[in-house]
Amino acid sequence: MQCYYKAVFRPCNKLNCIAYLRAMAKEVVLSGIRPTGFLHLGNYFGAMRNYVRMQDEYNCYFFVANWHSLTTHPDTKELRNSVNRVVAENIACGLDPEKVALYVQSDVPEIAELYLYLNTMAYKGELEKTTTFKEKVRLNPDNVNAGLLTYPVLMAADILIHRAVKVPVGKDQEQHLEMARNFADRFNHRYGNVLPLPQAFNYGGELVKILSLDGNGKMSKSENQMNTLYLADTDELIGKKIMKAKTDQGPSTPNSAKPDYIENLFTLMRLVSGADVVGKFEDDFNASSEGHCIIRYGDMKKQLAADMIEFIKPIRAKAADIQENKDLLHKITRQGAEKARASASETLKLVRSAIGMNES
Ligand code: TYM
Repeated sequence: MQCYYKAVFRPCNKLNCIAYLRAMAKEVVLSGIRPTGFLHLGNYFGAMRNYVRMQDEYNCYFFVANWHSLTTHPDTKELRNSVNRVVAENIACGLDPEKVALYVQSDVPEIAELYLYLNTMAYKGELEKTTTFKEKVRLNPDNVNAGLLTYPVLMAADILIHRAVKVPVGKDQEQHLEMARNFADRFNHRYGNVLPLPQAFNYGGELVKILSLDGNGKMSKSENQMNTLYLADTDELIGKKIMKAKTDQGPSTPNSAKPDYIENLFTLMRLVSGADVVGKFEDDFNASSEGHCIIRYGDMKKQLAADMIEFIKPIRAKAADIQENKDLLHKITRQGAEKARASASETLKLVRSAIGMNES
């Protein structure tokens, strides 16, 4: 077998080859984040928490989706900073750039070629029906560009360029994954079996959706900012946002169903507080004293704010440190791009040969 590691990375020695073969034996994982604003708890619990766990078990590729951001954020003044912040925040959350390929999408031009081929597998009608496309058209009717329409195709190319089989994402990306499977399946039928069909992934099964604190839709990088908890928020701001989160009078009978916005507070508490703390508030929600439920949402929010501050504080501090170090960030993304291009060019070779686009 040709020593691919030697060709792409450093001088071949036995250990490098063994490391390469080991990496090849693991299932491939890929995921990405758009640099369209500050990362928030939805990004963390929907996606990044999985990345950190997966890096020890899988052959992982994680990237910053800066091409994707152009479809909705054409102004690029802040783009470089945002890309650096996403890289820094990923590392601050526990990603180890020595274990994974952490790269910037535009540093891997092979993705664009696969995007071109996959565009011929995607039909206008299905692209127009995509939920995220319809939502973006509604929010910004003056910028319905072709990149926005073919967003799911570029996303499929991001995944399939490494022949990834597991894609850790939040619930909002489920439809895009289904489309990626369809495009890969059509490619395989037309040209031969080259592309595995990727699945959305979350430890524990169900994909996660973290709601905004006012219960109106999901937490988001660029919308509804006072109801989204960002990994860069100060202690004060975290406290303020949680204390004004939507609640109500409390349940009128024990063991009632929780409204979405209350369930979301419990979800956040389950993510950052101890089991005993969650248990106490669950009991309070379900218990009654002389017919009145005893949960006090003010106390619950105070406790949640304290635990959330403890959770976010070290991530915020570490990300700020890393962001200062531009040389380090550059070195990490260079190294990530090198690993990613090695894998991407292998896939492109197979794809071109299946289509009959061999070098002339
Ligand atoms: P993006 O940048 O909007 O979000 C990054 C990741 O965070 C998840 N997420 C959430 N999870 C739970 N609750 C929320 N409120 C919440 N908000 C965001 C997203 O599901 C995502 O996993 N299209 C992607 C970026 C992308 C990509 C890819 C992902 C481009 N190519 C290839 C996977 C594979 C996006 O816009 O994510």
